[in-house]
Amino acid sequence: MIDLHSHILPGIDDGASDIGEALDIARQSVDIGVTHMMCTPHINQGVFDNSSTTITPSFLSLKEALEHQDIPLKIAFACEVRIGVDILPLVLQKKLPYIGEWNGKPCLLLELPHSHVPPGVENLIKWLLNNNVQPIIPHPERNRDIMADYSKLLFLKRLGCLFQVTAGVFASRFSEKSSELAEQMLEEGLIHYVASDTHSVKRRPNDMNVARDKISRLRNDACAKRLTLDTPALITQNIHWV
Ligand SMILES: [Fe+2]
Repeated sequence: MIDLHSHILPGIDDGASDIGEALDIARQSVDIGVTHMMCTPHINQGVFDNSSTTITPSFLSLKEALEHQDIPLKIAFACEVRIGVDILPLVLQKKLPYIGEWNGKPCLLLELPHSHVPPGVENLIKWLLNNNVQPIIPHPERNRDIMADYSKLLFLKRLGCLFQVTAGVFASRFSEKSSELAEQMLEEGLIHYVASDTHSVKRRPNDMNVARDKISRLRNDACAKRLTLDTPALITQNIHWV
C-alpha cells in the first residue's frame, strides 16, 4: 500500500517526537503492508512554522535511519498545510511541497480546521485551482461542520476538491459519526484515497490494513486496492521516492 499522509518526520510537529518514534512508525507501517510513505508534516503558521528549512533535515535524518536499520520503507515528503490566506504567497513562491499530481495539476494537502468549514474557503479553493493547484482535503469525515451537514462536503466536491479519508475511521478509532460519514462517502464514490495520518504507534498507529479489509467487505477488493494503492500510485507517479 502507498500511504500519502503521515506525521512520521521526527521533531517538527505533533507526530513523531524523535527518530526512535519515527522508526517505530516505519516498522509498524511496513508490518501492515505499507511500502511507500509520504511524510506530510503540518504547516500551520504560528503553531507549526515548518518550511523546507525544518522539513529537509528531519527527512534526511529519517532516510538515513531507515537505511541504517534496513527498514524497507520508501519515503518522500510534502506537507499538510492549514487553510488560510497566508498560504497564497507560499503557493506563488512555490514554497509548499506537493504530494504529487492529479490531471497534470500539483496536489496540495489542504487541512480544514476540525471544528468548521471556514467562510471564504470557496474563494481560496477557486484561487488555487485557477493557479493550477489541485486541493486535496484530508479527513473531511472528522470535520464537525461536515458531520452536521453533508451538503458542505458536496459543496467542496463541486468546487473541485479531492477527498482523502483517514484509515482509522474504518477501525472505529474516531467518533461513530465520522465512521458513518466515511461509509456514506465510500458508498457514494466520494473517497479518492485512504491514508493513515499516523502520528505515533501508541496514539495514532497506521490502520491502512484495517481500512483496506473493511472496504473490501463493504464494497469489493478492487475498490479497496484502488483507494489504498492504485490512486495513490497514480498521484505519485512522478515522485522520486528514496
Ligand atoms: Fe495530518
